[in-house]
Amino acid sequence: MIKFLNIFRQDKNIFNDNIKDIAEVIKKSEFINGTSVKVFEKNFSKFCKTKYSIGCNSGTDALFLALKSLNLKKNSEVLLPAQTYCSTLFSVINAGLKPVLVDIQKDNPTICTDDLKKKLSNKTKVIIIVHLYGECSDIKKIKKIIKNKNIYLIEDAAQAHGAIDYSYGKKGEKVGSIGDMACFSFYPGKNLGAYGDAGAITTNNKKYFKDLLQLRNLGGIKKYQHNLIAFNSRLDTIQASILNNKLKYLNSNNLKRKKIALFYTKNINNKHVQLLRYSKGCVYHQFVILSKKEKKLTKLLTKKNIQWGKHYPQPLHKLGATKKMFKNMNFPNAEYFSTYGISLPIDPNLKKRELVKICDTINSL
Ligand SMILES: Cc1ncc(COP(=O)(O)O)c(C=O)c1O
Repeated sequence: MIKFLNIFRQDKNIFNDNIKDIAEVIKKSEFINGTSVKVFEKNFSKFCKTKYSIGCNSGTDALFLALKSLNLKKNSEVLLPAQTYCSTLFSVINAGLKPVLVDIQKDNPTICTDDLKKKLSNKTKVIIIVHLYGECSDIKKIKKIIKNKNIYLIEDAAQAHGAIDYSYGKKGEKVGSIGDMACFSFYPGKNLGAYGDAGAITTNNKKYFKDLLQLRNLGGIKKYQHNLIAFNSRLDTIQASILNNKLKYLNSNNLKRKKIALFYTKNINNKHVQLLRYSKGCVYHQFVILSKKEKKLTKLLTKKNIQWGKHYPQPLHKLGATKKMFKNMNFPNAEYFSTYGISLPIDPNLKKRELVKICDTINSL
């Protein structure tokens, strides 16, 4: 069986460190707001090249808390792409704001700037850009569109730890440091994943930082201090200690993902298969291909014992919970991706013979 992602194999070299660090947290009974949380926040800000990083319970909460920290009027409009994980949308609705969906690009999984321009209104207060599959959104264009407008930019970087936007020159800018705030998920399968739920928000803004520290911790920083009616969304100390160990290997694992993507790009050659346009700074959380013969191809992959995925099988306007909200709306590219997209195995430690088998199988369609 060629596994889609093998987390145990990926983290084998730090297995003993993780066990030792978990034991340490248990011995010290430092389960909540422990030392590892602060250490991880410091390390993660350094990694993202931001001043601040605030750990929280999940990527979903990171988005919700980031939106709450802006203190916007009820029903303020938030623009977001129609093809992403449900959390991006749910966080907007749960924060009492109005979601406005924007299509993605035809051959790239990020927000379409032409459609974005059409959806902008004087009620638009936030744009959430999603760096889907590890691919950086077209930030330069987006920043130009919102220049001199009072619109906040939030990055949903749940799938893009370490991705770089090169649109500003050779050195590029790290995902997480580009918008007013950026939201990360450390769901186990992510490029940087914990061993349970975990998330973080990064920012360079001191006010957001201070507010977020309280919002995630029932309204205060110290025990029994409750200045705001807030939420319990802390990053577990045990998860933070695992993330500290795994952060050291994020760059090398991202590099391995890039090599796998390059192999796929060079070796997949079938007229029924369309490759996406990925940019240089992409960290390939997913490697997605499009095929009108998606049903036949996925059947073939399964027959050959190759795991595959769908990210995601329904665009946001077709989810059971929200389809009424977006009745009669069309997002052709988002629909195309959800129908014809297939995610190929992206385990950083896939062997060459496994990659050859995957490409041969696809090419034999
Ligand atoms: C793009 C995107 N946004 C948000 C989330 C939510 O993150 P979490 O699962 O940690 O709540 C995810 C994770 O699946 C995601 O892929």
